[in-house]
Amino acid sequence: MCGIVGYLGKRQATPILLDSLSKLEYRGYDSAGVAVIEDGKIRVTKKVGYLNQLKQALKDDQAVGVTGIGHTRWATHGAPNEVNAHPHLDCTGRIAVVHNGIIENYLALRERLIECGHTFKSDTDTEVLAHLFEENYAGDLKQAVSNGLKEVEGSFAIAVISLDDQDTIIAARKDSPLIAGIGKGESFLASDIPAVLEYTRDILVIEDNELVVLNGSGVELSSLIDGSTIKREPIVVKWDVRSAEKSGYEDFMLKEIFEQPHAIRETMMGRSYQGRLVLDEIKLSDKDIKAIDKVFVVACGTSYHAGLVAKYAIESWTRIPVEIDIASEFRYRDPILDDKTLMISVSQSGETADTLAGMRHAKEQNAIVMAITNVVGSTLSREADGVLYTHAGPEIGVAATKTMVAQMMALYLLALYLAQVRKSISLEGCRRILRELRGLDVMVQEILDDEVELGLIQQYADKHFDKSDFLFIGRGVGYPVALEGALKLKEISYIHAEGYAAGELKHGPIALVEPRVPVVAVACEGHVYEKVLSNIHEVKARGANVCAVASKGDKDIGKYADEVLYVPRTSEILSAVPAVVPLQLMSYYIAKKRGCNVDQPRNLAKSVTVE
Ligand code: M6R
Repeated sequence: MCGIVGYLGKRQATPILLDSLSKLEYRGYDSAGVAVIEDGKIRVTKKVGYLNQLKQALKDDQAVGVTGIGHTRWATHGAPNEVNAHPHLDCTGRIAVVHNGIIENYLALRERLIECGHTFKSDTDTEVLAHLFEENYAGDLKQAVSNGLKEVEGSFAIAVISLDDQDTIIAARKDSPLIAGIGKGESFLASDIPAVLEYTRDILVIEDNELVVLNGSGVELSSLIDGSTIKREPIVVKWDVRSAEKSGYEDFMLKEIFEQPHAIRETMMGRSYQGRLVLDEIKLSDKDIKAIDKVFVVACGTSYHAGLVAKYAIESWTRIPVEIDIASEFRYRDPILDDKTLMISVSQSGETADTLAGMRHAKEQNAIVMAITNVVGSTLSREADGVLYTHAGPEIGVAATKTMVAQMMALYLLALYLAQVRKSISLEGCRRILRELRGLDVMVQEILDDEVELGLIQQYADKHFDKSDFLFIGRGVGYPVALEGALKLKEISYIHAEGYAAGELKHGPIALVEPRVPVVAVACEGHVYEKVLSNIHEVKARGANVCAVASKGDKDIGKYADEVLYVPRTSEILSAVPAVVPLQLMSYYIAKKRGCNVDQPRNLAKSVTVE
């Protein structure tokens, strides 16, 4: 996730671009840059690190110019360094581009453009756009951008300036956010509304597959598909800046829960080709993969729960034995690993002290170490032999939500890739799972769009917010989902909650069951479904109120549970993704009802960099 901005008008562009970027820093902050048209040249300034580095660099020496674009980067393709920072230029230095998103077919485009004589400077997917527009330019920048984008697969929100059309910014969007701000004799462009609220409240929301031209006479919209003109009235935004950063959501956590379909799509993007997974980024040869005889998954907190889900997927799809451990335990034990062991460290931040120590511990024993992380350039990603990034975008709420869903997606992809290479699943079987993975974003969206379901969860919160203990139970992948439900509830609402493997109840925890202790049972379709039903019977018999998370179309569950939260049906192993969403919402609404600060719960930090 990156942030893009643009300004065109009568004022000096640089201060406005920097100010707008400062409102987008939450979208990424490993490097930043601006390009401004000055005296017949495009002057580009880029700096690695927080936006402040760029501000310092421009403090006493800014381009004099009224047209410019800017970018704050959250690296996906290419390390976070100055060369890879945006804006990117074409060969002639006459076109500059900023981009948010992922160009899936950038390698193929890059090769073709190199054959045509273009010279690339960076490792980014974005630079292909500058050269592509250069290649398509025949006197009309809008046409060049529109033609060039027809060749692009993936997601993008872009802004383009050119020396050949100095009073214009061309922008376009597909699957990445983009808005234009309309001022008096000036126009603004940004990934998100807060970036321009200081200057205007008249906002034109750009939709997918639309192109927008900003020039002296205002803002013109057209279709990227057929070039037709689009008429849309701007909206007048009344939010204050702080709530605008949350896009109108009350809290970052809620915003991030609603961003989960996007996080799933971004994590899937660019990782398959013609029905086969392509995960070159993990830097494991087929020979290495075939030699693996054991997998360790090591992580903390929510990342550990995502790792538990991976255990089910890897064992079932690859038949490789998987051990999973909490990093703070793993680092101090004497596990048996060697160069045939694949050790997967899962960490949103990539900076969790215990997870890092666990990875180093495995490295000492020659294991192949792999990182699943959300932060490009994090210590974990730098020290691992290979990395699979989750592209969830920055997560501000301390409670992990969208990053967990993205971790599960990345782990499913990794598990399936191992199966594909080892041929432990047929090609057709792999394709089927891949198709199902691709459908998970829509399933999560369906839950989030279901007003009736959201209402039910809120009613549940109203009924139970004052309870002091909760039990969460599940089997199979429903077990890690139950653990996560309990963790979410305790960390943001401060209610005591325990997650248990449902079959363990009778070995002790059932002693806690009584009418005052609500039980949440994860009971999606699968081979252990009947067993979970029996566990529901057990707790009901002891007077518990039971809320079940179940698959849509389940006609029986309603006879046993007091409340049912239905989620779309998918295959058993993948069901962890839709099943976790109602539990995130449940803890959110309970915590809100209790007046808790859901984004910054007491005693917690987003990244635990100390032991
Ligand atoms: O950055 P990491 O994924 O390594 O963080 C691990 C845990 O600290 C984290 O998941 C924590 O449990 C969250 N607060 C859960 O919401």
